[in-house]
Amino acid sequence: MTGTGQSQLTIAVDGPAASGKGTISRHLADRYGLAYLDTGKLYRAVGALVLQGHAPEDAAQTLDPALLDDPVLRSPQVAKAASEVAAMPAVRAALLAFQRQFAVADNGAVLDGRDIGTVICPDAPVKLFVTAAPEIRAARRLSELQKAGHDTDFETVLEDIRARDARDSGRADAPLKAAADSVLLDTSDLDVAAALQAATDRVEARLAERGI
Ligand code: CDP
Repeated sequence: MTGTGQSQLTIAVDGPAASGKGTISRHLADRYGLAYLDTGKLYRAVGALVLQGHAPEDAAQTLDPALLDDPVLRSPQVAKAASEVAAMPAVRAALLAFQRQFAVADNGAVLDGRDIGTVICPDAPVKLFVTAAPEIRAARRLSELQKAGHDTDFETVLEDIRARDARDSGRADAPLKAAADSVLLDTSDLDVAAALQAATDRVEARLAERGI
């Protein structure tokens, strides 16, 4: 695949919080010349509106894309609210069409989230499931939060991540799980450069297998 944009390509990247899927997805989008959607931002934006007193379903139905780049979306409070609204089928249903349209715009896209390979883009030819040990993910998220000025500590972040993993994996509608045809990538022992290389190698192998 040369990334020259002659054909359409959708890459689905799923995994738990702070597994590295965002960094990997941005890199793949750049490499293959595709648009990128961090679908977690949609749930975070709905969660932020709910914290302000809006009804979850209304917030999801009338979501303004301008809200998606607000730094407040990265706060731990919003992350928790996001995973609570994400368990509501009406919220997920309201956000479905936007994600599916994004996936097929132009020459395709990279989408990351929890249910991209299973529900949003079940026919994506390339699916990665990115994971890492909870303690490693908590250390990465702690460093991100501290850089962004949040006052927190390792134990609190680890507990938040475990609670969110349990809620995301345990919900009835579109739970966090690897699609049967996804390729697993555990980034626990990889630094950023190694994780990007491992992801690229897996995508290239899958594209070759599929003759793309
Ligand atoms: O950045 P991080 O991995 O911590 O989380 P995120 O991707 O921004 O997602 C925040 C929350 O939104 C998750 O904990 C999920 O509950 C929910 N989410 C989802 O249910 N489905 C998606 N496709 C993306 C996010």
